[in-house]
Amino acid sequence: MAGYTLTMLGCGVMGQAILSAIYNAPKPEDKKIQSLYPSKIIACNGDEQAAEQVSKLISGFDPSPNGIIVESTFSDNLSAVEQSDVVILGTKPFLVEPVLNEVESVIDGKLIVSIAAGWTIEQLQFYSKSVSRIMTNTPAKYGYGCAVIAHSLEVKDEQKTLVNELIRHVGVCVELPEKHMDAATSLVGSGPAYVLLMIESMMESGIKMGIPLQESLKCTLQVLEGTAKMVEKSGAHPSVLKHQVCTPGGTTIAGLCKMEEYGVKNGIIKGVEEGAIVAAKLGKKK
Ligand SMILES: NC(=O)c1ccc[n+]([C@@H]2O[C@H](COP(=O)([O-])OP(=O)(O)OC[C@H]3O[C@@H](n4cnc5c(N)ncnc54)[C@H](OP(=O)(O)O)[C@@H]3O)[C@@H](O)[C@H]2O)c1
Repeated sequence: MAGYTLTMLGCGVMGQAILSAIYNAPKPEDKKIQSLYPSKIIACNGDEQAAEQVSKLISGFDPSPNGIIVESTFSDNLSAVEQSDVVILGTKPFLVEPVLNEVESVIDGKLIVSIAAGWTIEQLQFYSKSVSRIMTNTPAKYGYGCAVIAHSLEVKDEQKTLVNELIRHVGVCVELPEKHMDAATSLVGSGPAYVLLMIESMMESGIKMGIPLQESLKCTLQVLEGTAKMVEKSGAHPSVLKHQVCTPGGTTIAGLCKMEEYGVKNGIIKGVEEGAIVAAKLGKKK
């Protein structure tokens, strides 16, 4: 696959996050892994303005460590897919069908890597049998994203290695059977919005008690990041760590009990579940 071309059909918010991550990926020492990187990426969009945005993004970077060249186009999907071995599908879900229909004559046999919510592997296999489905999220833009990956049976081991190598640069990759994709759509895809609600709530609690906004935000972010790191580094169950800070009769247990009174934990679980229910309906609409 060395020196292959990768096309991004739709390169907006998520597409640009993935493009940036692949373009800026450090050069691997192992020659075999080096060959997993494309020599050219063609970013396809619907209009000139979006194409210019991609060109501007790339011009702000140093040359790609893996020597990747980016061509940014619009209204040129057919010729882009024709030249490619791998196609990342990054349009909004409602545009997947017309965009794939447009390239139907040239996409068969190519590896489709789809980030579109709700589109199942089976549906995408109408266009090509080799499909990797990915659910990722917006922190990918900064290299702190999460990507859940599911592959169709027809995806060969070397193609799985290629997808994992390219996508791992968004942050963290987790491979799961496709049946978990609706849950991942809510937990991972919508997850940042849920966490932002938590950040906003904690920040506002600080403000309510008189801490200025900037300081309140700074403390909130450090508490969130520090706690996540503590869970990761200690390897301990979150409940164990939680109880370590609950002094009998103290402030933490009082705060936690009040939160339980308002159903915070159940609210979060039900909310994430609701997102997954809607994600499942998205898939059934087509
Ligand atoms: N944003 C998120 O948080 C998130 C999270 C998880 C998954 N996703 C998934 O990621 C996918 C993309 O979402 P997004 O937020 O990145 O959307 P977006 O910013 O709207 O990007 C979609 C891109 O597709 C382009 N496009 C439209 N028509 C096209 C055509 N005919 N041919 C080629 N490209 C075309 C658009 O270009 P124009 O502007 O020129 O029309 C746009 O740049 C969605 O399927 C979504 O389910 C998003």
